[in-house]
Amino acid sequence: MTLRAISELYESGAEIYERLARDRDFARQVGTLVQLLPPPVSRSLRFLELFAGPAAHASAFIASGHGEAFAVDASRAMARLAATTGNPAVSYHISTLPAFPPELNGVRFDLIFAPRYSAGYLSIEALAKMVRHCLPILVAKGLLVLELHDPQLLAGQLRNLGLKERAFTLPDGSDGKVTWPHGEFQFSRNGWTAELTVQIATRGPNADSTSQFSSVEHFHSLELLQFICSEVAPDFGAVALPSMERHFPGSVLVCCGRRRIWEKSLNLA
Ligand SMILES: C[S@@+](CC[C@H](N)C(=O)[O-])C[C@H]1O[C@@H](n2cnc3c(N)ncnc32)[C@H](O)[C@@H]1O
Repeated sequence: MTLRAISELYESGAEIYERLARDRDFARQVGTLVQLLPPPVSRSLRFLELFAGPAAHASAFIASGHGEAFAVDASRAMARLAATTGNPAVSYHISTLPAFPPELNGVRFDLIFAPRYSAGYLSIEALAKMVRHCLPILVAKGLLVLELHDPQLLAGQLRNLGLKERAFTLPDGSDGKVTWPHGEFQFSRNGWTAELTVQIATRGPNADSTSQFSSVEHFHSLELLQFICSEVAPDFGAVALPSMERHFPGSVLVCCGRRRIWEKSLNLA
């Protein structure tokens, strides 16, 4: 079977991605992120979703009534889709991270979120560039939160990743099943990267189809984020949030920000 680049799914298959990614309670996840901020939490926060895709978290943030939401993604198709499936009030910008869109220059954020494993699309160097850009554009109490792969699950080939196989329904009512990753993957010998195969099978009224995509991912760690943050300024740090499995299953949630803020509000000191 021909293996297509995962970027093709995010461009020509944006609608399919939006459907298969609905397995989360976006409102609950956004509520959990807002609760990480030190009180009192204002109702005029600014939330930025990186690698936003359909911008479901940004849309849920607006629905929560906590303030404005912004989104950045490289895919034009995702931006078009987000305007119809998401909240049109999301300020959506097309940019290939770690480059940030110039329209966001001067805007400061309370929460910046990189959902489910997306930071893995960046090399260590590109991730460092993105984090170095994000930390200074946080408000004093702001947080950058990244949802990373759990190293323990990776060591087991993601066999125990609960969301590895997901059923979904396409807009025309046909059934789909995604397997992410499909089969075993091999770690590169040059670093913590691997080429994961993503399989999407759909069963339509007239025909069945199966497609496979190749997703090359970098596996970043808390330790790496701690190092990158400390290089930006000594008062920045990173911490893994405990007990997040219920809200963000299969992920390690890493929170970056000014040490004195999260040490106090997250009660991790
Ligand atoms: C796994 S999806 C995540 C979408 C969504 N945030 C979610 O949680 O379902 C990854 C998204 O990242 C985007 N993407 C991949 N590499 C990117 C880059 N370097 N800069 C910006 N967006 C990128 C893709 O277009 C895709 O929409």
